[in-house]
Amino acid sequence: MASSLPAGYVYFDHNATTPLDPRVLARMLPWLGEQHGNPSSAHRAGQAAREAVEAARAQIAGLLGADPLDVVFAASGTEANNAVIHAVGRAHGWRGEIVVASFEHPSVRRSAERCVEHGMTVRVVTPGADGVVAPAAVLAAIGPETRLVCLMLANNEIGTLQPVMEVAAACRERGVAVLCDAVQAVGKVPVEVGGLGVDYLTLGGHKFHGPLGGAAVWVRPGAAFDPYLVGGSQERRRRASTLDVPAAVGLGEACDLARQELPARRAHLLELRERFEAGLAAIPGAVVHCAAAPRLPHTSNVAFLGVVGHSLAIRLDLAGFAVSTGAACHSGVVEPSETLLAIGVDPAEALASLRVSFGMTNAAAEVDAFLAVLAREVAALRAHAGARSAAAPRAASAAAAPVAAEVLPT
Ligand SMILES: Cc1ncc(COP(=O)(O)O)c(C=O)c1O
Repeated sequence: MASSLPAGYVYFDHNATTPLDPRVLARMLPWLGEQHGNPSSAHRAGQAAREAVEAARAQIAGLLGADPLDVVFAASGTEANNAVIHAVGRAHGWRGEIVVASFEHPSVRRSAERCVEHGMTVRVVTPGADGVVAPAAVLAAIGPETRLVCLMLANNEIGTLQPVMEVAAACRERGVAVLCDAVQAVGKVPVEVGGLGVDYLTLGGHKFHGPLGGAAVWVRPGAAFDPYLVGGSQERRRRASTLDVPAAVGLGEACDLARQELPARRAHLLELRERFEAGLAAIPGAVVHCAAAPRLPHTSNVAFLGVVGHSLAIRLDLAGFAVSTGAACHSGVVEPSETLLAIGVDPAEALASLRVSFGMTNAAAEVDAFLAVLAREVAALRAHAGARSAAAPRAASAAAAPVAAEVLPT
């Protein structure tokens, strides 16, 4: 089927989702066509599916330096995060405390908030202005009742890498479990569960050129993991559901390719991001957030002061470039990114921000073309805002034009 996107349209929103690697698709296609079977069936069709799924599980474990037995499939990063938090809550009779970083993905924060409905409490730790949560801040939040600490490996909006290893070591000494949401990190930076020392780690294939629907959680042997989805005894009673064989096979292949190609991928992505951020020098009032912090190689979050980020993203889309704002849009009202507010960026600057996230199919020439269009669109919006404020000073605010769709952070 022909793409509905215009020829030459450039996608710079890989933190939202990535295009499927054709090599991954090739592995999945037989399982969407002539091959089929329920991996729980005893007959040969079922056993062929079982073999494919177990091979994929080994590929996932291979990327994480883990034992395949400790990998449980899920349908999304959201499900994986929910499953872990639910399991820890249940294991402790819904008593005790969960510590979360304030800029965790909503699938972690909202899931922890649900535990409050059951009787648990949640303590929120704020990152520094550099976009990094200080280990000391996490430790200060841990008390005798703390059961779980949730700290993501890389933030989805600003790309900052978090000191998970240090936090996990301190939590281990205190007998506190750690969930590391590595959904944005896996496939872009080395992620090795043994070295990190966490109890649970979640990942999702669609963030690194694998399929939507293929996600997983790694569970340290002995860590509580009562199933979130109950029903059949699939996944050694850790997740009921007939396995999505094509998604599992695709996730496995995406992990295997990432394992083989990680250094080359990092180098390519970093080159694109550095080229982009160097080029921003030509655009006055462009501020890269958390530029000095350790970051994912492909994520750049930039404020264009005096411009409404949402309007800029729409103009860029019309000009052929897909980027994102971290802003959430509810019922036509654009609210600044919670992540940017959490690191102390002021609301007007947060509303002036864009997230640009590169992928393996992007090329340097696309970055150069983007920079030229970006400079033009930023200047046009500033000129427009200037003309509007001259005509009607009270109308010149950071409020964006109403948008019909509901947009949530990814
Ligand atoms: C850090 C992080 N965690 C979890 C998720 C949720 O993953 P999924 O979209 O597969 O549910 C996302 C998705 O954007 C994410 O960025």
